Amino acid sequence: MALFQSSTRTIPVAPKVPRHIAVIMDGNGRWAKQRFLPRVAGHQRGVESLREVVKSCLGMGVEFLTVFAFSSENWRRPADEVSFLMQLFIMMLQREVSKLHEKNVRVKIIGDRSRFDAQLNRHILEAEQLTANNSGLTFTIAVNYGGRWDIMQAAQAMWQAHPEQMGNFSEADLEPYLSMNYAPEPDLFIRTGGEQRISNFLLWQLAYTELYFTDTLWPAFDSAALDAAIQSYQKRERRFGRTSDQLVGEQ
Ligand code: IPE
Ligand code: IPE
Ligand code: MG
Repeated sequence: MALFQSSTRTIPVAPKVPRHIAVIMDGNGRWAKQRFLPRVAGHQRGVESLREVVKSCLGMGVEFLTVFAFSSENWRRPADEVSFLMQLFIMMLQREVSKLHEKNVRVKIIGDRSRFDAQLNRHILEAEQLTANNSGLTFTIAVNYGGRWDIMQAAQAMWQAHPEQMGNFSEADLEPYLSMNYAPEPDLFIRTGGEQRISNFLLWQLAYTELYFTDTLWPAFDSAALDAAIQSYQKRERRFGRTSDQLVGEQ
């Protein structure tokens, strides 16, 4: 039994306040460059934006916030930037998780962990275990995450579990194996930094998500910028394949 409504197999309810917001936090490097600072200063400042967005989501009663912190393609960056980002992630886990726990936030990390060292994997497990029973916001950080990787690992796990069903699988069979099996599909997707692409983020789950792109660079993204995104979302008509008239008829 699926825990959440699938946008393709059912017509989900469209909540006024997004239940699930997914964010590509982009533009840190350009923010720093504009200030003649090293790129990593932008990443550091980006953590503050993230704190503010988590706080706003808690205040608004958003149930799920999922952020893209490091993609499976970000390993292609210069080695010193990659190692800075990994260190920043470890520091964030060390410093922030107890505060998040106090706020009843459940922390989840999605992505391929096989490339992380033992120390990082230990911090990830500790963060998830400490906050596992929290019932407030579920805050997911995608690290070494790729949408294609996710679909492939899910397919492989599904095939292994049910070899007898080979050639006869449905969407519902795959969904329990996807990394975000504990969350509804995002209602709102936000990408900062001006690019209008998905960059291999949640490919399966964004099927019917409302997309919002802003030129604001991530370190400059604050609660007012989040409100603007939510206001844009609230003006959208989420038809899920139906006509506008059908929606009017429904109310
Ligand atoms: C996003 O900012 C952070 C990560 C990808 C880790 P960028 O580092 O991509 O910043 P820009 O796009 O170069 O400005
Ligand atoms: C996407 O940003 C990934 C994260 C924010 C973690 P990128 O800056 O890596 O995306 P591209 O390369 O411009 O598509
Ligand atoms: Mg970028």
